Amino acid sequence: MRVNFLNGLPEETTIHWHGLRLPNAMDGVPDVTQAPVGPGERFTYSFTARDAGTFWYHPHSNSSEQIGRGLHGVLIVEERTPPTVDRDIIWVIDDWLVGRDARLADAWNAPHHASHAGRYGNIATINGRTRPRMSVDAGERVRIRLINVANARIFNLHLEGHAPWIVAIDGQPVEPFRAASDDLYLGPGMRIDVIVDMTGEPAQESRVVDTYANARGVEIGRLVYGTGRRQGEALPDPAPLARNPIRPPDLRRAERHEIIFGGGAMGGMMGMSWGGMQNMMREGMFWLINGDVMRPGSDGAWRPFLTLRRDRTHILRMRNRTAFDHPIHLHGYSFRVLARNSRPLDRRLLQDTVMMAPDETVDIAFVADNPGDWMFHCHILEHQNAGMMGMIRVA
Ligand code: C2O
Ligand code: CU
Repeated sequence: MRVNFLNGLPEETTIHWHGLRLPNAMDGVPDVTQAPVGPGERFTYSFTARDAGTFWYHPHSNSSEQIGRGLHGVLIVEERTPPTVDRDIIWVIDDWLVGRDARLADAWNAPHHASHAGRYGNIATINGRTRPRMSVDAGERVRIRLINVANARIFNLHLEGHAPWIVAIDGQPVEPFRAASDDLYLGPGMRIDVIVDMTGEPAQESRVVDTYANARGVEIGRLVYGTGRRQGEALPDPAPLARNPIRPPDLRRAERHEIIFGGGAMGGMMGMSWGGMQNMMREGMFWLINGDVMRPGSDGAWRPFLTLRRDRTHILRMRNRTAFDHPIHLHGYSFRVLARNSRPLDRRLLQDTVMMAPDETVDIAFVADNPGDWMFHCHILEHQNAGMMGMIRVA
């Protein structure tokens, strides 16, 4: 893939290819993997797309505002043998903070957002439309690629009256399984590919709801059946997608590391001195990784908070000692999610972003086979900007 990028913004930016395992120099992080691209300047990204799947791209500069205003795109790498479906569609799910004047609210990175749950909006959209009515036909099988591009909002989706199969998470295939009640749980940055059999009747309408914000379910869209019907027989279970060439971690010989997230409002700052806390907050920094506010040094350079030996398996035990949920994202890798609160998962999941609930411990593992300086951060963009982004070096 080769992208000739021209920055038409009045400010600097870069493009990050979220979830792709690419060479570090193409990762699009300003002052880490490349110089920022100034207004009117150009940069050429070129790399081989190694993994098939659903990915996306977005700026990595002034992220809350640039992504929040809608600068992002979907990147699909097709499978050599795609699954048999009638249609393959994309739902880009977003959330907007709109004021009474019907304009996007300013105050990007407002301290209240940065120190609490991030910039939560008041309007959810699918593909840029509020509560879209999405046409389907009785009997058809549809692949839907769900992508949460919101700054901060977490979605727990339900397609009422339907039983989607989950076939990939964060672009990486999983053994297909039926989504149970909380399985379409998407933090910012995450993707889930589902295969849905449209088992409703002609002319039926079914709600698509989010139950994260409100347990009774807020409608964010609707499946609207046409009057026709496709084949009448039940379809076979979907076959698994072919796995991507990711080296499996060697867990018996893994090197172990611990990462502790702290800070934030509602008690998370405990353990810091009052003076230290006040200084931090005055600069708009609210979050800690392993007890430190993460930011570049006075020379503008980022320094790694963790260095991993190349080609070894590493297990990161991550502890969320804050009062908030965080989607934690690592660049350049798809990691195995091993365990939550020390309980092994019953599925083999490869992700680039993983949700952590308050007080939760999540263990992830990967082979450090992609050298370079990789950002590791919360994908709630106002947290990322307020200290919850550090650099991991693979050398
Ligand atoms: Cu989509 Cu640094 O992330
Ligand atoms: Cu966060």
